[in-house]
Amino acid sequence: METIQSISYPVVFSNDFTAVNLFLQQGKYSKIFFLVDEKTEKFCLPMLLSNLDITDYDLIEVSSGEENKNIDFCIGIWRMLIDFKADRNSLLINVGGGVITDMGGFAASTFKRGIDFVQVPTTLLSQVDASVGGKTGIDMNHLKNIIGTFAQPKAVFINADFLKTLPTRQLVSGFAEMLKHGLIADRNYFYLLKEVSPENVSPAMVHHSVNLKNNVVLEDPEEKGLRKTLNFGHTVGHAIESFSLKNDPDPLLHGEAIAVGMVCEAYLSTRKNGLSKQEFDIIVQTFKQFYKKYTVKEVWVPVLVDLMKSDKKNSSGNINCSLLTQIGQCTIDNYCNEEELCASLLFYLNC
Ligand SMILES: NC(=O)c1ccc[n+]([C@@H]2O[C@H](COP(=O)([O-])OP(=O)(O)OC[C@H]3O[C@@H](n4cnc5c(N)ncnc54)[C@H](O)[C@@H]3O)[C@@H](O)[C@H]2O)c1
Repeated sequence: METIQSISYPVVFSNDFTAVNLFLQQGKYSKIFFLVDEKTEKFCLPMLLSNLDITDYDLIEVSSGEENKNIDFCIGIWRMLIDFKADRNSLLINVGGGVITDMGGFAASTFKRGIDFVQVPTTLLSQVDASVGGKTGIDMNHLKNIIGTFAQPKAVFINADFLKTLPTRQLVSGFAEMLKHGLIADRNYFYLLKEVSPENVSPAMVHHSVNLKNNVVLEDPEEKGLRKTLNFGHTVGHAIESFSLKNDPDPLLHGEAIAVGMVCEAYLSTRKNGLSKQEFDIIVQTFKQFYKKYTVKEVWVPVLVDLMKSDKKNSSGNINCSLLTQIGQCTIDNYCNEEELCASLLFYLNC
């Protein structure tokens, strides 16, 4: 499958690791580090290492899960880099889902004012969305990605074989970002995905999603305009995700929370942005088909709206949403007031 050229780096799609070997054989790195969590160490690293011609590397492991995408684990990464004597010519290879690629990218972009890093995304969500576009970061005080940088990797290597060990729930979570790509930019793609189950996503669909995201990112790398469309579902979704992480014993996954956010923001789209009732119903039915209902209780609604007020996308205290005008088209900088956001959550609660 064709390599996609992003801002300053290639996104390579391959079921072997020839391109990774070629990249490493350029030999410009003094030291190579792999960042993994306990699951990617078990399920992904052996396949990667057995196909690479390198023996000299150091391994950094963090615990898996969004709750660990924080400054403490980041300090752990920096400490290991220091202990293993990483210098400015070192390379960090992030092998994992969006938590690893976001946090590893952040750790690399700030260590010694920035060392090179490469993304090897191993979940559906990180392959179709998180690994491309140069957003790195960590959570703090239950606020999603509130600390972070824009920093571009040297390369992204996407291998569909990694998805074979991914649990179904994680595939369904990643599928939400693919549905988002269709909703904001490609009507036919949305209708195609609607008929596919997340377990049957093809490498061509992963490629198509990356291409859609990349086209947006190339036009607006620093999210001054068009790139904000990728935030559809994320104003409400991030609040739901933060809330769930803080309060639920088995918190929602990122994509599951964004799915709730997309239903709420589709509601706002009909109310404020001209999305037709007919298309709204199709969107709601699609999410009902793939996602279990998250039980939002009425008493939580003000807490969720408070979380939205801290969203990093806001400006001058206004809560900012990207909303659909129709399936396949999205507009940015739609300011929503508390009453509208409460109404969207109450709609979800009752739908
Ligand atoms: N930077 C961006 O542009 C961007 C975009 C979207 C999402 N994100 C971020 O991505 C994160 C979510 O990423 P995620 O959904 O990949 O979650 P994740 O990184 O937590 O990975 C999900 C789980 O799958 C495990 N895993 C990873 N690969 C596996 C494999 N091949 N086989 C078996 N298990 C495997 C992980 O250990 C983890 O337990 C969120 O923090 C979100 O904010 C970032």
